Amino acid sequence: MIIIRAIIINLFIINIAGYNDDDERFPLINDRVVIGVLAQYPYKDEHQYIAASYVKFLESSGARVAPVFCGRSSDYYETLLPKLNGILLPGGGSPLDEGPYAETVDLIIETSKKFYDNGKYFPIWATCLSFEKIIVHFLNGSLQWESECHVQNLSLNLEIEKSIINDPKSTRMFRDMEIMMPNFFDILQKHNVTANYHRICMSLDEWKKHKELVENFQLISQNSYGNHTFVSMFEHRKYPIYASMWHPEKNQFEFVINDHVGNINHDRWSIIVAQYFGNFFVNEARRSCGRFNDKLDESKHLIYNYNECCREYTGNDGKSSYEEIFRFPFDANHGSSSMIKGSILVINNE
Ligand SMILES: *[C@@H]1O[C@H](CO)[C@@H](O)[C@H](O)[C@H]1NC(C)=O
Ligand SMILES: *[C@@H]1O[C@H](CO)[C@@H](O)[C@H](O)[C@H]1NC(C)=O
Ligand SMILES: *[C@@H]1O[C@H](CO)[C@@H](O)[C@H](O)[C@H]1NC(C)=O
Ligand SMILES: *[C@@H]1O[C@H](CO)[C@@H](O)[C@H](O)[C@H]1NC(C)=O
Repeated sequence: MIIIRAIIINLFIINIAGYNDDDERFPLINDRVVIGVLAQYPYKDEHQYIAASYVKFLESSGARVAPVFCGRSSDYYETLLPKLNGILLPGGGSPLDEGPYAETVDLIIETSKKFYDNGKYFPIWATCLSFEKIIVHFLNGSLQWESECHVQNLSLNLEIEKSIINDPKSTRMFRDMEIMMPNFFDILQKHNVTANYHRICMSLDEWKKHKELVENFQLISQNSYGNHTFVSMFEHRKYPIYASMWHPEKNQFEFVINDHVGNINHDRWSIIVAQYFGNFFVNEARRSCGRFNDKLDESKHLIYNYNECCREYTGNDGKSSYEEIFRFPFDANHGSSSMIKGSILVINNE
């Protein structure tokens, strides 16, 4: 009897904590969204960078992008984040439990939660390394869940949770699916549309061991490869926080000749899938009322300011994992504005 009551109460809590009232609480008010993309250091003391594919991914769904630099003082984030309409946290190779990337993402996640609790929408999309970082954040810094799986250079289909296939509206990600793209689950499940570049996995068994994850997050999809069954997407049940182990930005924009990253699907299904998630996330940002002081303030923050100094074609040297990157001057680490041009950077990370 007590057990049954506990289960009912639990279901009730999950229900009322769900997103269902958010469509009214946070209507689509903003069609000129600016989304931050977090820069990071490829290695210690290096230039911060952003792979241009993340920028193009958002731009092609109707957003503009502002770079958000890593490891700055809290003043910088307190001033900048309220002006943005959400943030994309990219993949990469930074430590998850310490250092500028980890500390900055911790601050961003807590800011997004605080904003939501105060009536302001600030969605987060986290890819690959940042998918892992969301887990680490909600497990208070623990890395104990990690297992080595080496799912590298591999495009896979997604195994969507059965409960979601039966009820897409139980998730934010798929609540508009029927009007945006009927039969989307078929495409996701039948075709190898998700580009995977991760050495680390959150196994399904491990996920289920953590009450903090199971209660706070809706598992969206899993994948099996070799002997590993791993979590490949999830979303927060309350906050607009989305995480993807695979790279939705690569299908459309990464064609590099580096042999280590050759297995990216560019067929029409893979492009539709990437665009679905881009469209979804940018639409989430339309629920956000963040705005700059004025048009000048806004334009000064946009990534277009960094085309001349910092945008480089790197896909032609056979080493970089990225077709194009923004490679920022050292000044970006501290906040002054003079720009220098650097040599071609080699990056090959998750
Ligand atoms: C993390 O810390 C919070 C606050 O101290 C606590 O409520 C929560 O149970 C902790 N979670 C884990 C996974 O340790
Ligand atoms: C998808 O990729 C897996 C793993 O490489 C492979 O076994 C499978 O045949 C592929 N499926 C399709 C439809 O190409
Ligand atoms: C899967 O596990 C079996 C048994 O432990 C092992 O023999 C095999 O090499 C593993 N396969 C891969 C691809 O890791
Ligand atoms: C990556 O995948 C591509 C396409 O399947 C393949 O040609 C290449 O050899 C792979 N590279 C590595 C390092 O596995």
